[in-house]
Amino acid sequence: MSRIAYVDGVYQPIDLPGIQVEDRGYQFADGVYEVCAVHHGQLLDEDAHLARLARSLAELSIPAPMSDGALKIVLRETITRNRVSDGIVYMQITRGVARREHGYASGLKPVLVVTARATDPNRRAAVLEHGISVVTVPDQRWARCDIKSISLLPNVLARQEAVEKGVQEAWQVDTEGLVTEGAATNAWIVDANGVLRTRPADGGILNGIVRQILMSLIGDMDVSFEERAFSVSEALSARECFSTASTLAVFPVVQIDAKKVGDGRPGPISQAIAARYIQHSLIEN
Ligand SMILES: Cc1ncc(COP(=O)(O)O)c(C=O)c1O
Repeated sequence: MSRIAYVDGVYQPIDLPGIQVEDRGYQFADGVYEVCAVHHGQLLDEDAHLARLARSLAELSIPAPMSDGALKIVLRETITRNRVSDGIVYMQITRGVARREHGYASGLKPVLVVTARATDPNRRAAVLEHGISVVTVPDQRWARCDIKSISLLPNVLARQEAVEKGVQEAWQVDTEGLVTEGAATNAWIVDANGVLRTRPADGGILNGIVRQILMSLIGDMDVSFEERAFSVSEALSARECFSTASTLAVFPVVQIDAKKVGDGRPGPISQAIAARYIQHSLIEN
């Protein structure tokens, strides 16, 4: 079965041409996106993703291509046409098509693309059991990482460095030696004093939906928490480290730059937080 994409009003085989050469997303990465997890055919935390999408669009003065209600229908139709029960749905909105000039005219029609695909149903359990390894890389991005922009070249290069070093994620580090976030995940530690920490959501990171949900869930767990940045050396001497993203929720980090975190196995707080998040997903659906 060929995968189906929604491209600017049309459901079509994913390998058919559909995007115009002068789409500003293609030429300038002038657009935004969201990735939402699908569990048993339902979108997880859909409203939070749509709220962040609206914020990203507003920050870039790109009009929404359709109402949230209409977008929800397109997302569901794309999931159904691709027979995705467990996986992800990707939505991208670019500013529109215009003769190539850096400045943009008002009144451009934004272009929406939606794709969906299944993910390996066993990967979450494997990641929770064994954890992942990360490398640290300099953060080379702009000052508005809070916008979920499709301009992802530094993230791509960071992740590729991780892949080439045989690990799963790259944690980016700012000029002060503090971890910002992963290439496509937020970064957390349980520090040497047992305090759960993640960097405050400023322009230096994307305010992840899983990050936001976890912050609301840990209130009723017996964990002390601070929104405070941490250095690479604090991460190396932490009791536990983990990354979060909608794709798999919680990824325990067991090695940083080939050095073990704690005893080199996923820790109890990471596991408890992952379990709490899974419980939340079941209630959501
Ligand atoms: C740079 C970056 N940080 C954090 C995240 C995690 O965000 P979320 O929890 O919304 O998936 C992502 C997800 O794609 C990301 O690309």
